[in-house]
Amino acid sequence: MSAPSPWIVRFAPLAPAGPVLDLACGGGRHVRLFRSFGHRVTAVDRDLAGLGELAGDAFVEAIRTDLETGAPFPLAGRAFAAVVVTNYLHRRLLPALVEAVAPGGLFLYESFAAGNERFGKPSNPDFLLHPGELLDAVRGALRVIAYEDAVVTEPRPAAVQRIAAQRPTPEAT
Ligand SMILES: C[S@@+](CC[C@H](N)C(=O)[O-])C[C@H]1O[C@@H](n2cnc3c(N)ncnc32)[C@H](O)[C@@H]1O
Repeated sequence: MSAPSPWIVRFAPLAPAGPVLDLACGGGRHVRLFRSFGHRVTAVDRDLAGLGELAGDAFVEAIRTDLETGAPFPLAGRAFAAVVVTNYLHRRLLPALVEAVAPGGLFLYESFAAGNERFGKPSNPDFLLHPGELLDAVRGALRVIAYEDAVVTEPRPAAVQRIAAQRPTPEAT
């Protein structure tokens, strides 16, 4: 079982009460994290085998789907207290993911960035965030709490981009 990302651990406590979306959840390290904070979690992946016992948890809605068929975003119209994506990019989904953040909710995204090809996979530009791409994705919709575009050494050398952003509540605007 891999440990949750320190970036997600850092900001998870800021999520208001409500359901959380973990898109491309893999083994469910962030499903587990938010579940432990009492959130219901919608876990989406084309392969849910890694979720193990979490797939049958009453607080986990496990949805197996291929997100890259070009079909409409399967969760359109739903709103989440946090939308979490780590180590996955299908950039066509970015507007729908930002849209899915509820008022007061968080957008937590961390994935590989341009420059990662120096370190290994992923090296396909389709899977690497452009400089500033996550800032561009939230501009005009969410308030940026923190953003990094950096080379990291842990858990292995990689170029990553990550953001924590919040949708203002109506009373804050
Ligand atoms: C590198 S793993 C990251 C898993 C998890 N977010 C994490 O950080 O631990 C990428 C995940 O994306 C999922 N994935 C890749 N392509 C997908 C697709 N077309 N539709 C749905 N899920 C996909 C994979 O099954 C895998 O679980």
